[in-house]
Amino acid sequence: MCGIIGYVGEKDCASILLNGLKRLEYRGYDSSGIAVLNSVNDKNEISMIRRVGNLKKLEKALSEVEMKGSLGIGHTRWATHGKPHRLNAHPHSDCKNEILLVHNGIIENYEPLRKELVLKGHKFVSETDTEVLVHLVEELYKDDLVEAVKETLKRVEGSYAIVVMSIKCPNQLVGARYDSPLVVGLGDDENFLVSDMPAVLEHTNKFLIIDQGEIVNVTKGKVEIYDRNGNKINKKPYKTNWDISLAEKEGYEDFMLKEIMEQPVAVRETYRAHVYKHKISLDESSLPLEIIKKAKKIFVIACGTSLFAGFVAKGVIEKFAKITVDVVTASEFRYMNPIIPDPSIIIAISQSGETLDTIAGIREAKKKKAWVLVVSNVMESSAVRESDGAMYTFAGPEIGVAASKTHTSQIMVSYLLALYLAKIRGTITEDEIAFHLETLKGVPDKIKSVLDNHDKIKELADIYHKFPNFIFIGRKFGLPAVMEGALKLKEISYIHAEAYPAGEMKHGPIALVGENCPVVAIVNKSSIYSKIISNINEVKARGASVLALATIGDSKIKNLADHVIEVPEIPEEFSAIINVVPLQLFAYEVAKKLGCNVDQPRNLAKTVTVE
Ligand code: M6R
Repeated sequence: MCGIIGYVGEKDCASILLNGLKRLEYRGYDSSGIAVLNSVNDKNEISMIRRVGNLKKLEKALSEVEMKGSLGIGHTRWATHGKPHRLNAHPHSDCKNEILLVHNGIIENYEPLRKELVLKGHKFVSETDTEVLVHLVEELYKDDLVEAVKETLKRVEGSYAIVVMSIKCPNQLVGARYDSPLVVGLGDDENFLVSDMPAVLEHTNKFLIIDQGEIVNVTKGKVEIYDRNGNKINKKPYKTNWDISLAEKEGYEDFMLKEIMEQPVAVRETYRAHVYKHKISLDESSLPLEIIKKAKKIFVIACGTSLFAGFVAKGVIEKFAKITVDVVTASEFRYMNPIIPDPSIIIAISQSGETLDTIAGIREAKKKKAWVLVVSNVMESSAVRESDGAMYTFAGPEIGVAASKTHTSQIMVSYLLALYLAKIRGTITEDEIAFHLETLKGVPDKIKSVLDNHDKIKELADIYHKFPNFIFIGRKFGLPAVMEGALKLKEISYIHAEAYPAGEMKHGPIALVGENCPVVAIVNKSSIYSKIISNINEVKARGASVLALATIGDSKIKNLADHVIEVPEIPEEFSAIINVVPLQLFAYEVAKKLGCNVDQPRNLAKTVTVE
């Protein structure tokens, strides 16, 4: 939930750290800090700046001082223990201000450790769980920083990615991870330790991925990695094909708008990566044919927006592959002792591949001997490495906290996976697959035509941004898109929005509708078109304004709804990937009208690496 970075090299590093933090800011933005070690005439000095608020505050403070030095660490925080306050901001330091540390994660046993350290005379200045780490390193330091970190981590329960520096080791950073991501960026005469790759893409595209329990010792010319037993290990660098332009706004006002607009490309790339010469390809090693044929059940586990892609997956897999699919919130799955028949397939969906709840669900599934296939946008992410197989979305890095292009790409993967499972299970013919692939190939153009309605959606936002509550309704294949539409509106505009199956309204929620609570309805041409028209009549009769998403050319809905957004025709089972796009744009424009920071909504962080 926080972003961490470390630099060791020859350049003045304050601005390198700040720029890296800017790219990590989506992970947390309630406070931030930088510490730099400067060696002058064999004398080492540490300077540190921490500020409450987003990175602009830190940037301003940095512009007012000179911070020299070629070794440093930085942090952008999403508060868990201790409110956003300068003293709770990282880096944290030991009693003598000689050892500094940044941390992403939660130290669960910090209270007894803190008591023990206080009894030994350590002085604590913050309310954070993190501060025990740096005092423990201080307590255990003899003359080797790696050893001190290793001994510290033996005492710790919880999750962490840390970077530590010390005045006594002016050329060295020590990092470690457990349940929170950390990678080493490999440069020429310089190296980086960082939460994720996009933060340092302007310096390198070569990375070493740090695995569970590993400790890494980094100097400007050398990287040594130790496994959890202290054995030195060798790793092959991973070369990413992401480039820096993908992590920049390129003239758009916000990352979110840029990412919404990138959807035709993201979805097309994702389609192309999995379809070759009209055939869907998936490695036998990612999902063995025997498992597909014999599977008794499929579970989808995910959180937030990825969970809604999971509901789309359920609809199409059950339709085409004729196998039962349960969709379970990952944070619940791990604790409900799920009954997983043997053999079963678990599809874990996570754009970041670092969501702790989803990773914990993957571990639970593996414990129960299920085959885990992860759908992720990040190769080499933790979820990918802990799963049996992977299917990737090719959306490029997504920086806006609210997911958009990764979601539609997840939906594309879900469609392709459903058709592939159906083929292997013999529930679909080759001709049918070819027919559906033709439809899916046309999806990017249809998304593009929806995006061309941007101005119209902006006008609608002008009308609708004044309402304090919204209800979103849909049925059958329309339901996951309204769930996502309501979540998008909530998270970036802070307007209360709920999504319901339209037929459920009369069982309670209809009591809420009225002049102050408009209804957004998905009414595409489909097998349940007349049913949803009846549901719209019901809410209209109670005085609600209705904003309908309907198929181009539908004249009936124009006479019924107050406003209509037209979407191109597509078979109902594939409609979610189109319907969700105007709902993203609607949420975006409403949030902009209300003056909200869409890229960094309050209380949220892009990657949730805590429980
Ligand atoms: O990286 P993941 O897909 O695992 O993230 C899951 C959720 O945290 C994420 O989708 C969240 O709901 C976003 N804020 C949605 O916009």
